[in-house]
Amino acid sequence: LSAALRELIEAHPGGADSGDEPVGVGFVPTMGALHEGHGTLVRTARSRNDIVAVSIFVNRLQFNDPVDYERYPRTLDADVELLARAGADVVFAPEESEVYPDGNPLVVVSSGVLGEKFEGASRPGHFDGMLAVVSKLLNFAQPSLLTSKKVNYTAFFGQKDAQQLAIIRRMVQDLAYNVEIAAVPIVRSDRGLALSSRNQFLSEAQAEAALVLSRALFLLKARADAHEPLNIDDAVALIDAEPLVELDYLEVVDPSTLEPIGVNCQDTPFTGSALALVAARVGEVRLIDNMPLGS
Ligand code: PAJ
Repeated sequence: LSAALRELIEAHPGGADSGDEPVGVGFVPTMGALHEGHGTLVRTARSRNDIVAVSIFVNRLQFNDPVDYERYPRTLDADVELLARAGADVVFAPEESEVYPDGNPLVVVSSGVLGEKFEGASRPGHFDGMLAVVSKLLNFAQPSLLTSKKVNYTAFFGQKDAQQLAIIRRMVQDLAYNVEIAAVPIVRSDRGLALSSRNQFLSEAQAEAALVLSRALFLLKARADAHEPLNIDDAVALIDAEPLVELDYLEVVDPSTLEPIGVNCQDTPFTGSALALVAARVGEVRLIDNMPLGS
């Protein structure tokens, strides 16, 4: 990755003289099995940068269940095609031994309390495993280590994984990483289902049933936009009425701390801004979705 990036940065006409604009380098980490959500992430990075690098690595350390890790879809050829269409310049698809040469890393970053709630509660260790690879990938792609040119380094993450995004932002802040984090809004199917590599495991009936999750979130958004009381219980009831969907949590939280905010009162009009988070099981598949509320 670093050799390819260095070559691209050096070949770029800008960034060398003091009057030049910095060379913009965008980095998009993924686990492959790419869909239009990833495509949008890469196109957004493309529109804001001179050079775009994408990584594809199914990170064993963030899977709780070895079976889930084994059966995670691996579609490298199709992924590379999608990335070429979306305008990526470099695709980095390392072997396990390149990322973890000594087996599991000894020194790791902890996601702390942010990693214990919501997704972390049902997937213990998931966010620490995620940070193990993201902390390393951000360094692999760090362009200022590769060149004396002026560079602007931005890593792109989807709002789809809101807790992941909050934890990465916190790591970058706490460890003074030299990278800007950009969030890209959730990409949905025409009918509202948040795109996910796991959606391919849903039957047609399950995919239909799963639409109730975004419907519940849009109900809360409509109430927030109208400054009405959210009455979260109504959204919960909507999901509970769908027999194929087993709700894990639906909560309205502060987007940075993920602390629940007290908006479930029957008659308190919604003001300010917040994030509604939802997770559910549909058959064997765990789905997550979320919606920013308010300004
Ligand atoms: P992965 O699930 O492949 O997702 C890669 C990026 O695509 C993440 O930032 C995710 O939030 C974003 N994404 C996925 N579906 C999206 C959608 N429907 N709309 C917008 N963005 C979407 O997230 C991971 O991989 C891994 O945890 C990773 C960060 C690569 C570390 O291993």
